[in-house]
Amino acid sequence: MDRAPGRRELASLLKMEDFSSVYAEADRVRKVNVSDVVYIRSILEFSNHCRRQCRYCGLNCTNRKAKRFRMKPEEIVSTARQAWDAGYKTVVLQSGEDPFYTPQLLGEIVREIKKTGIKITLSCGEMSFEDYSYLKECGADRYLLKQETADPEIYRALHPDSQLEERISCLKNLKKLGYETGSGFMIGLPGQSLETIAADILLIYEIGCDMAGIGPFIPHPDTPLKNSPHGSTELTKRAVALTRILMPEINLPATTALGVLDAEEKNSVFSCGANVVMRKVTPDAYKKLYEIYPADLGETDIYKERRELEEMIHRLGRIPV
Ligand code: 5AD
Repeated sequence: MDRAPGRRELASLLKMEDFSSVYAEADRVRKVNVSDVVYIRSILEFSNHCRRQCRYCGLNCTNRKAKRFRMKPEEIVSTARQAWDAGYKTVVLQSGEDPFYTPQLLGEIVREIKKTGIKITLSCGEMSFEDYSYLKECGADRYLLKQETADPEIYRALHPDSQLEERISCLKNLKKLGYETGSGFMIGLPGQSLETIAADILLIYEIGCDMAGIGPFIPHPDTPLKNSPHGSTELTKRAVALTRILMPEINLPATTALGVLDAEEKNSVFSCGANVVMRKVTPDAYKKLYEIYPADLGETDIYKERRELEEMIHRLGRIPV
């Protein structure tokens, strides 16, 4: 695209009867700009304590049914080392917004893990400019903080304790500090329209995100949104494809949520623009408890899963890295 399209234009593209030509274009843009490589990243979910009330998320602090856990710093470090030994070059350290892990403690963990040479992505929520800056000094390379929705009213309704403006300001701070910055959003949130999705894609473009995780909303039974329908996988793929075309070099993961709704969709999203996949390396005992949305999770064998994933990527005619 020579110029950024408008919101209306994107919304009408999303609505098209036959999307196959757009998918083909997204696949072409992906191949030309980011090649056939699929980046494999590991994700380690180290705490499910959260001070936030996000109404779609099973970890929100009002969910009394969630059994909470925190991994000890040594345990986080040793699991990240195993991921490195299994061949992962990147680990995403993700948690709820858990004040137990102060920036100082997180910084120590980052420094320790960094000794292996692995790249570190943090995904621990909103923090001040100073704290993000400190963690960057400690060696964090990337940060994931999804906008969740670009509509200020929907944002407000889903996050009683925060505002979209704060999110955007955090994302801009992360960019300013030189983090590779990841955002993203959910498809199928209550109140969302095609125009909202268009605005979501444009917000990622305006911020200049290096990565965008786009996944369908999946209702969690112990949240206020338990009766809302899940998001459309087709619409998710369409949003991924348009994001690829608009931002040719961006990293686009095949989100776990897409695979939860339909494993086939998760693979087919690789022909719609996606070029990244994440694998959990969270120890089994904790993995089950990190229930953002319901998912049927198998046992973790870091080494075996890594091999299987590489085989799957080869079968798609792509190159695992
Ligand atoms: N369905 C799908 N995705 C969800 N997330 C949180 N709750 C849900 C849900 N119910 C996503 C959010 C968050 C990421 C860690 O998981 O986008 O940023």
